Parts: sequence; structure tokens; C-alpha cells
Amino acid sequence: MNKLSLITTAGIFIILLASCGGNTSSSNQPAAKLSGEDIYKKTCITCHLPKGEGLPGTFPPLAKSDFLANRESVIKQVLKGNIGEQVVNGTKYNSVMPAQPLGDEEVALVLTYVYSNFGNSGAPVTAAEVKALRSKL
Ligand code: HEC
Repeated sequence: MNKLSLITTAGIFIILLASCGGNTSSSNQPAAKLSGEDIYKKTCITCHLPKGEGLPGTFPPLAKSDFLANRESVIKQVLKGNIGEQVVNGTKYNSVMPAQPLGDEEVALVLTYVYSNFGNSGAPVTAAEVKALRSKL
């Protein structure tokens, strides 16, 4: 091998190493995180509908729901679901909401979305709040 091809080979080797390094660092980047809105659209929208309006008699509304006043009940509702009678804005529901398989952060994000949309207003729900309640259930 002459001097020139040795240098070329070394150069290619360095370029390969550098690009490997680049790949490693990019694969360490966290996957794009879902927003509260994304989680709502993936998880809750089928029953509670796009504007949280629900379906009278079947799925209670999240829009301006008086149930939202009790934050612990709301977090528990998502973690555990509910079977049986529930009264929302004076209308009786007697149905089933399955427990939602979401992590603390996801529950916090989706409920923060619910509390700040659909005509609702409420402080953001934090992952710490969800975690604390989950450990009590
Ligand atoms: C499979 C349908 C379904 C899905 C999915 C669902 N829910 Fe529900 N949800 C219900 C039903 C039905 C009730 C009423 C339960 C009852 O009558 O016992 C309810 C009740 C509620 C309530 C309490 C009453 C009210 O309207 O304020 C909240 C809060 C709630 N759901 C939030 C959510 C959130 C947030 C999600 C998504 C993470 C979600 N639900 C996903 C069906 C669903």
C-alpha cells in the first residue's frame, strides 16, 4: 500500500468513526413526547368526543362538567375507571368507563388538557399529584 492510499484509507476510517458517533448520539434522543391533546385524541375521544361534549345518557361530558371540581375524583376516574351511577351536571349516568392504561405523566398531560379546554378552567395536573394518588388506590 502506498502512502497516498494509506492516507485515504485512514481518512475514510475517520469519517466512518465520526458518522458512527453521530448515529449513536442521535439514537439517544428521547422519542417525541405526546402532548395532552395527542393523548386525548388517542384515548378519550372515542367516548367523550372531540369537544368533550359526550353523548347524553351514555357518555358524560367533560366540557363544563361539575365533576371536574374534585380533582382527586377526576384523577381516580382515569386511573381506575368507574362502574355504576355517576351524576354529571344533574344528569344520571349508569355506565362503565374502563381504567385507562396511562403513566403518571400521561394522565397529568391529558387532564391538564381537559382542564384547559372545552370551556373549562383549572390548574394544571402534575405527574406528582397522579403518582401520590395512585399509591393510595
Ligand atoms: C370506553 C369509553 C370511555 C373512554 C375511552 C374514556 N371514558 Fe371517561 N367516562 C366514560 C363513561 C361511560 C363515564 C361514566 C361512568 C359511569 O357512568 O360510571 C366516564 C366518566 C368520566 C369522568 C367523570 C364524569 C365527567 O364527565 O366529568 C371523567 C372526568 C372522565 N370520564 C375522563 C376521561 C378521560 C380523561 C379519558 C381519557 C384518558 C376517558 N375518560 C376515557 C367513558 C369513557
